[in-house]
Amino acid sequence: MRRMVALTLIPVLIGGVLLTAGKRSSLDPETEKKVVEIGKKATMTLLKTLLGEVTTSLEEKGPVATINYCSERAYPLTDSISEAFGVKIKRTTFKYRNPKNKPDKYEEEALRYFEKFFKEGKKPPAHYVQKVKVGDKLVYRYYFPLKVLKLCLTCHGTPGKDIKPEVYKAIKKKYPEDKAVGYKEGDFRGVVRVEIPAERVR
Ligand code: HEC
Repeated sequence: MRRMVALTLIPVLIGGVLLTAGKRSSLDPETEKKVVEIGKKATMTLLKTLLGEVTTSLEEKGPVATINYCSERAYPLTDSISEAFGVKIKRTTFKYRNPKNKPDKYEEEALRYFEKFFKEGKKPPAHYVQKVKVGDKLVYRYYFPLKVLKLCLTCHGTPGKDIKPEVYKAIKKKYPEDKAVGYKEGDFRGVVRVEIPAERVR
């Protein structure tokens, strides 16, 4: 049942963006199609699992224990899905809680791209794609925009209003430099980034 609830949240999270076309990029259509296909599958696998487990944990164990889930389980989960798909998945945002999730310059470009739509109150595109050089390797990157849902406010809303004092205390203890609060439902939270080695897309 809980899993059902979590699954029905997926379309909310996606916010109808599936109906909108992605950004036109400089990639040829065939390549872009493959990048989007791999990126989307990996992203949906991650989000379904994360959302399902966070929802269950919030209900069964409460928000303070779920903070530990977010800091301890989210990375191994992301890594195992990355491995299964032969990609590298990262969650990144301008207002990060964990400095590990800080964006690089290409990720900043993608974040700015989506942010513009949210600022203008427009529906964001379903994805953004890039072909970039990381070190000496050519990679493709797929980005999926994340929207703030009501349940996210428990830990990313306004302290004292949406975030209970004991929850905020636990967050600040673990993340003294936390920037990931003050969000409202429907705000742009960040992206899931899927990095795909160029040789996978041929
Ligand atoms: C129980 C508290 C809790 C809830 C509920 C929660 N988060 Fe988080 N979130 C965290 C914690 C803790 C981290 C930091 C994890 C880490 O160490 O990377 C985090 C990190 C993130 C990050 C990675 C970027 C960053 O800020 O470091 C994103 C993106 C994110 N959350 C989005 C969401 C969304 C979207 C929702 C709702 C669907 C949500 N969160 C619900 C606690 C929560």
